[in-house]
Amino acid sequence: MLLCIGVEKGGAGKSTVCQNLASVRASLGHSVVILDLDGQATSAKWVSRRNEDETLPAVAIERLAPKKGEGNTAALKRQLPALAEQYTDVFIDVGGKDTDLLRLALAACDRTIVPLVPSPADLDTVPDFADVVEAIHTARGERRPVQVILNMTSGSPRMLNEMLEGMGPFHEALPVMKKRIGTRVAFKRAMSEGKGVHELTGRDFDPAAANEIKDLYLEVFGK
Ligand SMILES: Nc1ncnc2c1ncn2[C@@H]1O[C@H](COP(=O)(O)OP(=O)(O)O)[C@@H](O)[C@H]1O
Ligand SMILES: [Mg+2]
Repeated sequence: MLLCIGVEKGGAGKSTVCQNLASVRASLGHSVVILDLDGQATSAKWVSRRNEDETLPAVAIERLAPKKGEGNTAALKRQLPALAEQYTDVFIDVGGKDTDLLRLALAACDRTIVPLVPSPADLDTVPDFADVVEAIHTARGERRPVQVILNMTSGSPRMLNEMLEGMGPFHEALPVMKKRIGTRVAFKRAMSEGKGVHELTGRDFDPAAANEIKDLYLEVFGK
């Protein structure tokens, strides 16, 4: 499966969702690669920390690697099929900045997950992003699943309700999953240790965080 975790907005939880789903997938015996399109290389750093612990199921990492004279989009077009050939699952961690890359990644993948934080700033990005998604469906002549996961929802219930209300008119392009991800220290801890939240141990393990990821995993991949 080619899975794209993308939205233009930075800080919404793309890398968090990508790393957690990839590590669950790897723990179930699949060969998994994250293609990190973000210049900040959050997921590439996560994998290098992960590799320090040999007991963790391996997740491979690739960065965009344009050849001489090749642009970023051409590199993505070349690299994606090769990765899809080599691995059972390719997770694309899209960076915020390059919209051409984002569009290309969205168009190429089987399924897209869009993390959004209930906030006016994230809601502001929704109309434009919904247009991008619709344009891709039209260009491809086929609707592939796109799902919004609300992340860091533990703040104000009023903000959450405003977000749900604001997303209402865009539900065809950007349907919101019933499952949500709360604001939990475990997600930061796991990222800094190269783990998924389910791989934290002792006092760091947060069953609520692990369950949220399990539920998200089941919704995306089925059983
Ligand atoms: N559910 C969450 N609870 C607590 N912290 C979170 C959660 N999701 C993301 N974060 C933290 O917020 C920051 C931004 O998340 P990240 O996944 O890197 O966003 P993006 O890739 O969209 O820019 C990171 O420090 C991450 O650890
Ligand atoms: Mg990121």
